[in-house]
This record gives sequence, C-alpha cells and structure tokens, in this order.
Amino acid sequence: MKEKSGFTSRLGFILAAAGSAVGLGNLWRFPYLAAKYGGGIFLLVYIILAVTFGFTLMLTEVSIGRKTRKSCVDAYSKLDKRFSFLGYIASIVPMIIFPYYCVIGGWVTKFVALFASGKGLEAASDEYFPSFISNTSSPLIYLAIFISITAIIIMLGVENGIEKVSKVLMPLLAVMTVGIAIYSLTLPGALDGLVYYIKPNFSDFSIKTVVAAMGQLFYSMSLAMGIMITYGSYMNQKDDLERSVRQIEIFDTVIAFMAGVMIIPAVFAFSGGDPDKLQQGPTLMFVILPKVFDSMPGGQFVAAVFFVLVFLAALTSAVSLMETILSVLQDKLKIGRIAGSLLILVLAFLIAVPSSLGFGVWSHIQILGRDFLDFFDFISNNILMPIVGFVTCIFVGFVVKPKTIEDEILKSGKFKSKKLYNIMIKFVAPVFLLIILISSVVGYV
Ligand code: PHE
Repeated sequence: MKEKSGFTSRLGFILAAAGSAVGLGNLWRFPYLAAKYGGGIFLLVYIILAVTFGFTLMLTEVSIGRKTRKSCVDAYSKLDKRFSFLGYIASIVPMIIFPYYCVIGGWVTKFVALFASGKGLEAASDEYFPSFISNTSSPLIYLAIFISITAIIIMLGVENGIEKVSKVLMPLLAVMTVGIAIYSLTLPGALDGLVYYIKPNFSDFSIKTVVAAMGQLFYSMSLAMGIMITYGSYMNQKDDLERSVRQIEIFDTVIAFMAGVMIIPAVFAFSGGDPDKLQQGPTLMFVILPKVFDSMPGGQFVAAVFFVLVFLAALTSAVSLMETILSVLQDKLKIGRIAGSLLILVLAFLIAVPSSLGFGVWSHIQILGRDFLDFFDFISNNILMPIVGFVTCIFVGFVVKPKTIEDEILKSGKFKSKKLYNIMIKFVAPVFLLIILISSVVGYV
C-alpha cells in the first residue's frame, strides 16, 4: 500500500490539530457559558477537566490514529474486529456536523464581507441578523462560498493544504486574539467585566457547572468524532505524543480563555455592567457584538478584525471535519482526493440546505421540537459523541487495554501521566461520559 501522506513536522501537526480544536466553540460558546456558570469557578472546573478528562481522550484518539494509520472507520476494527461498529458511529458524527457547521461558517463569511466593506453599521440593528438568516438565497450563497474555500484547502492535500494553511492562520489568529483582548480591556468600565469573568463565584457552583464544562470541553477539543484519529494517522512516528497533546490542549484552552477576555469586558462596558446581555446565547456574537463594536472608538475596524478571526477559526475546524470525512471515503471507496472532495462538497451543500432554510421558509418544520440545525447539533453533540466517547473508553480500558496506547506513546517519547491515564480511561472518563449522556437525554443542561 502507498504510504499515507502526512504532516511534515510536529509543529504542523500541533497547529493543524489546534486549528480543528479552536473554533466557534472557543470564540462564541465558551465566553457565554463561563459567564453563565459562575465565571472563575467555571474556568477552574474547565481547566481541571481539560488536563485530566480532555487529555485522556485526546491522547487516546491521536494514539489510535497514529498506531493504525487508518481513518476512524477502520481504525477501531483494525484493533479489534468486534468494534467495527464504533468506527461507523464515529464517522457519522462529522458527516452530520460538517453541513450545519458550514451554514454558520457562511453567516460568519457574510459578516466578514459586511464589515470589510465598511457597512458594519447595518449589523448593529436588531433586525439585521434575523432578517439575513431568514432570507432564502443569501445565506445559501455564503454557505457555498464557505464550503468551497474549505474544499479547496482539502484538495491541496494534508501537507500543502491543511498544514501550510494552519501554519499561517493559527499564529495569526493568536495575535489577533491578544490584540483585541488588550483593546477590550482598555474600554471604560471593562475591568469590572474582567472581574466578573475571572472571580470565582462559589455560590454558583453546582453539578450543572461540571456537566456544562464537560460538554463544552468535549466539543471544543473536537473529540469523539474521528478527527483526532484522522490527524493522528498523519502524524510522524517520531514525534512526542504526550507533549504534542498537551500543547494542543493548552492552545485551545488559552484561546477560549482569551475569547472571554475579548468579549466579556466589552459587553460589560457596553451594557453598563448588566450581565444579562452575556447570556443571550447564539445571538451574542451576531446581534449584541455588532452593537458593542458600534459603540466603541475604532469599533468598525476592530469588528472587521474580530470577524476575520472567527472566520479563520471556523475555517480550520471545517477543514478538519471535511478531511475526516474524506479519509473515511478514501478508506472505504478508494476514491481519489479531488473526486472525494467534490463529492463531499456537493452532498454536504445539499444536506446543509434544510439547516439554512430552517430559519426562513422552512421554519415551520420541526423535528423533536427543534429546527433542522438545532436538531443535527443535538443528535451529534448530545447523543452520538458521548456514546462514541464512552464506548472508546471501555474499548481501550478493558478490551485492547491501556497498554496498547502506552506502547504507541513510548515509541516516540515518555509517558509521564501513565498512572493518571489508566485511572481516567478505565473509570473516571466513562462515568463522566455517562453523566453527560444522561443529562443531555433528560434535558438537564
Ligand atoms: N472544536 C471546534 C470548536 O471549538 C468545534 C468543532 C466541532 C470543530 C466539531 C470540528 C468539529 O468550535
């Protein structure tokens, strides 16, 4: 068999994986969850979970990928035939997420175009965003643009597309984040917002804080959907696994934290210290932030930079989703990169159409009381991902045994967290995952 092409350097791998991890989840979801679940206490819980639970799952997936050199559909069955079903469930997740993720990517693209063309002021009205997404053709056009850019990067290949793009975009993204965070902190009244964000509010602590932080972590690190297996399969055999995973995790968590520093003080300053504005969920980024930017000196420029940043983050995440789907098709259908990319491009666009129209002409159609986008999001994040995560832990903990992962890690470096890993993968992580699954099914969070 032809040797799989892959990342040329450890830095390339880390930045590509961080590119997958850093996305809308960091920039938009993390800040408002942190604000909602007690600020500092949420941060603390999140960080503890990241270095234990997140670390364990990410290390597991990257190691499985590197060991088997397979896409997620075949990786599990290569380790044990009886678990091929797990590969299939894991591969379905990115196929469900990718189309609707691109719908949101399209919205972001629209905002980039708007602010870059100096028309950002329009977005500061309450009606702008709802009227844009309920339109039929415009969101579909931006969806097509976003998905095509993603496909072009994928067609260029792992080394010339994903790695090169990540090496340029990720450092750029980090610089922009720091720049906007500093700017945000200089606004009058911003420091109170920072205190609100960082100071632990112990009275807000509840089991909900932990469940919310866990769900967020899972999503933010792109776990349980074959992505880290795919990227792991392109990783160099000589690169230190444990260290790489730590660095990806740190990158992801720092950007999420900084997103809060960027957004919370600014919204706080804007709303005169009213935390309610932060709890608007989805509309925070598209409705409240344009108003905030509108009220700030130089706000239009900062807004343009901000939306470019969100766009880049969403793009590198979409790339990882598409590459994961492509690697499954390559393994199963023996299809070429270009043909496979075109096939995914067309199919994903068609599947995305209902998610886009669900905010307009098809808004009367509901599945389980949800619009299309929300429904796909719920099935993948709340049901399938915890199942994949849970079965993966049982599979590694008790079937192929943690030794399989350990051997892979030891091939290229030390395994300092071995003890922690063993306990986490066998006992703690599966219990956590069951809790997430049950709480999402009963609608607790
Ligand atoms: N990890 C990404 C984020 O934080 C989200 C994502 C989910 C990316 C699924 C790819 C796949 O936004």
